[in-house]
Amino acid sequence: MLGSTQPKRHSFSDSCNRKLIKIIFFFDFFRRMEDKRRSGGWCGWLLVLIVFGAIGFAIFITLTQKMYESDPDAAPVPGHPGTITKKYAEALGIAMQFFDVQKSGKLENNKIPWRGDSGLQDGSEAKLDLSKGIYDAGDHVKFGFPMAFTATVLSWTILEYGDQMKAVNQLEPAQDSLKWITDYLVNAHPFDDVLYIQVGNPKIDHRCWDRPENMTKERPLTQVNTSAPGTEVAAETAAALASASLVFKNIDSSYSSLLLMHAKQLFTFADRYRESYSISIPNVQKFYNSTGYGDELLWAASWLYHATGERFYFEYVTGKNGEDFADWGSITWFSWDNKLAGAQVLLSRVNFFGSEDISHSKILLKYRKSAEAVMCNLLPDSPTATEQKTDKGLIWITEWNALQHPVASAFLAMLYSDYMLTSRTTKIYCSGSYFTPLDLRKFAISQVEYVLGNNPMNMSYLVGYGDNYPQYVHHRGASIPANATTGCKDGFKWLDSAEPNPNVAIGALVGGPFINDSYIDSRNNSKQGEPSTYNSAVIVGLLSGLVTTSSVVLSFT
Ligand SMILES: *[C@@H]1O[C@H](CO)[C@@H](O)[C@H](O)[C@H]1NC(C)=O
Ligand SMILES: *[C@@H]1O[C@H](CO)[C@@H](O)[C@H](O)[C@H]1NC(C)=O
Ligand SMILES: *[C@@H]1O[C@H](CO)[C@@H](O)[C@H](O)[C@H]1NC(C)=O
Ligand SMILES: *[C@@H]1O[C@H](CO)[C@@H](O)[C@H](O)[C@H]1NC(C)=O
Ligand SMILES: *[C@@H]1O[C@H](CO)[C@@H](O)[C@H](O)[C@H]1NC(C)=O
Ligand SMILES: *[C@@H]1O[C@H](CO)[C@@H](O)[C@H](O)[C@H]1NC(C)=O
Ligand SMILES: *[C@@H]1O[C@H](CO)[C@@H](O)[C@H](O)[C@H]1NC(C)=O
Repeated sequence: MLGSTQPKRHSFSDSCNRKLIKIIFFFDFFRRMEDKRRSGGWCGWLLVLIVFGAIGFAIFITLTQKMYESDPDAAPVPGHPGTITKKYAEALGIAMQFFDVQKSGKLENNKIPWRGDSGLQDGSEAKLDLSKGIYDAGDHVKFGFPMAFTATVLSWTILEYGDQMKAVNQLEPAQDSLKWITDYLVNAHPFDDVLYIQVGNPKIDHRCWDRPENMTKERPLTQVNTSAPGTEVAAETAAALASASLVFKNIDSSYSSLLLMHAKQLFTFADRYRESYSISIPNVQKFYNSTGYGDELLWAASWLYHATGERFYFEYVTGKNGEDFADWGSITWFSWDNKLAGAQVLLSRVNFFGSEDISHSKILLKYRKSAEAVMCNLLPDSPTATEQKTDKGLIWITEWNALQHPVASAFLAMLYSDYMLTSRTTKIYCSGSYFTPLDLRKFAISQVEYVLGNNPMNMSYLVGYGDNYPQYVHHRGASIPANATTGCKDGFKWLDSAEPNPNVAIGALVGGPFINDSYIDSRNNSKQGEPSTYNSAVIVGLLSGLVTTSSVVLSFT
């Protein structure tokens, strides 16, 4: 939230403005070039040069536009908004469907033929309705920590790129999927200092191989509270609800207020009872172990600042907590566990577009410099480029779910590129070299192109996209025919079956390749073949930003 003088996101004048900004940016560049030449005083030659230059440029532009239409690798042309890259639009339409595949509860307008109602009794032992929400991955636990992160990233995507999503008919589905999660999160927070953070117990859940519709195992609840606090999970949930409150602000203001109220309470709870849930509930370590809560506190406060405009949250991130937790200048990887890089980019936004009094804060600049260090680490030609990538240039950090990091990094790079473009910031410096918004966007495109099939396996890691995608996705529901009856144990024959999955887990972004760019398409290879909903959130974000040559809104409110 950056002051009421900023344009509203959906107004016509706003979208005009954005086009104008791009066009101005474009002409301004040439005016400055011209000024430079003129000072030399070679007027006649200069004129000839300009005329030829202009003709050459016109040809160049025509060619690049052609290239851009037919070749998604080619860079988008600033000043030419609105062209939809069909390939990314199609991929986005597919990626969005994984949220439907993962829905728990009584389904509405279900479009996945092999899915039905499930988890209807979830929460009943505490007299709560926790039937909604989404299953995390190939199994049926509802893990609150990554689920909240998924919602935060989905909100962020809608806030920045809602117009683009709308242009390809994905805005409403995204809002619906987001609400499916936030409805759950609100119900999971029955008292100020109590948050249910898990439905189902992975130990019990993993003993079965079944369809969600036919689960028979017990699904116990886990909560954090004042005697067993969970700062990171409460703060991430606060971030999810604060960002979602912005999404629903102009759609359903009472729902938006409800979300914001829960967000504030959860943030207070998280901040006041500081303890990692990995310590207070050690059982969570085996699945979603948290390596610290400082990043979530800053991230949640940043979102609350955007959602409320309240100075308190700004001072929270720029005061002592910033010093304690921001770790300025260090390079981190944005993920369900670590939100530092995300907070740095989100706070850079305030530096780029915020009101005068706030955007000049020195501490804010530290966040922006840290975000730039992250960008310099990603840019392949930067002197500080990371070496953690495959031969083919895919950022590669972990063997389990390798794709989460390149996709999340590309998402941040694209956002930063758009912040630069929209604010007419022409370059960032990386240890002596400088890079443009286009360089960042090219990096983002390189990662998504790899994911969609431009890789040594010629495989699309987005299930349902292209001709060659994994057929043995590690996903229970997809692996069992919808008409089969299984109990808990006899379903394992479907895990072991040599046949491809009978159902397509459409939109699943699987774990991805090994560091040697290879992939083994086997159902029990969960390291590589298991999709997750937080992977979906970042790929949806990335594709939404790449669907057209984009710019971002100046304000979320
Ligand atoms: C399994 O789920 C399907 C719905 O997908 C339902 O029709 C069927 O009755 C369920 N069977 C059992 C044993 O719960
Ligand atoms: C607080 O949460 C812990 C961990 O989930 C749980 O064991 C304990 O029973 C809860 N306390 C109360 C009062 O419910
Ligand atoms: C969980 O994270 C903490 C903090 O980084 C670490 O000390 C602990 O060993 C981790 N637990 C597991 C099971 O990886
Ligand atoms: C991928 O496609 C290229 C070009 O069509 C081909 O040379 C290569 O053998 C293919 N690789 C695999 C693993 O199929
Ligand atoms: C389930 O459906 C498949 C495909 O329609 C069919 O071949 C199979 O016989 C059915 N199985 C049962 C148990 O109804
Ligand atoms: C790639 O790495 C994986 C995991 O280390 C290994 O199993 C596989 O054999 C390697 N493939 C090639 C072609 O080197
Ligand atoms: C996975 O399945 C394959 C084929 O069924 C089998 O050879 C392999 O041992 C299994 N691996 C694991 C880790 O279970």
